[in-house]
Amino acid sequence: MIIAPSLLAANFGHFARETERITKSRADWLHLDIMDGHFVPNISFGPQVVKSLRPVSKLFFDVHLMCSKPEILIDPFNEAGADQITIHAELGEQAVSQLLWKIKSLGLKAGLAVNPPTSISQAEPHLKQIDTLLVMTVNPGFGGQSFIHETLPKIQQAAAWRRDRGLGYRIEVDGGVNYVTAAECARVGADTFVSGTALLSNRNLGAAVKKMRRIVELARMSVKRSLPDPEALQLR
Ligand code: DX5
Ligand code: ZN
Repeated sequence: MIIAPSLLAANFGHFARETERITKSRADWLHLDIMDGHFVPNISFGPQVVKSLRPVSKLFFDVHLMCSKPEILIDPFNEAGADQITIHAELGEQAVSQLLWKIKSLGLKAGLAVNPPTSISQAEPHLKQIDTLLVMTVNPGFGGQSFIHETLPKIQQAAAWRRDRGLGYRIEVDGGVNYVTAAECARVGADTFVSGTALLSNRNLGAAVKKMRRIVELARMSVKRSLPDPEALQLR
């Protein structure tokens, strides 16, 4: 289970300090939301900011590109120190395929994101190419929005494909993820939890990260225990 606090909910005047705080919290990844004012109606920050944060933290840098022209940003974010770059399925099948190939060719992990109104089937042609499938649980653009419950079946579908096809991608959720909604996502198969407002609003971020990790682990375990053992069923 990966807990990935989002820098979007941090104090924008103190990115370095906030990155240190997240690193000390024993979170697993740092989620970096890149918004271009075109793909989404908001602007966040660019590769220069990410580059200046790289010496501050050894955390895995999970770069989420909410951008119309990711092709011009992959090299700059690679040079800035990204560990994973995620692009959006809404860019279209052919563009996505080429972009994922480019990301992988740089030796980075590749993620594919699907917005709430977009069918999860748009991710299906790319499942073998990706390291992470990001199911957006709010419409991207802003932190602090409410979790959209209608996205839960998409997580379930992503988990079913992964299981049935023997694939190993992570299932990441992003938007409105708090202790309650994280557990709901974990129960249907999510294993990677981006959380901005719900985590960073805590004075004791370490305790909040630990609590979220425990909650999702317990949620996952409770599902596993209630299911019949598939191997035992096959023996009958
Ligand atoms: C939404 C971003 C999210 C955002 C989540 O457009 O992709 O990563 O930071 O923030 P919260 O957890 O506040 O919904
Ligand atoms: Zn994000």
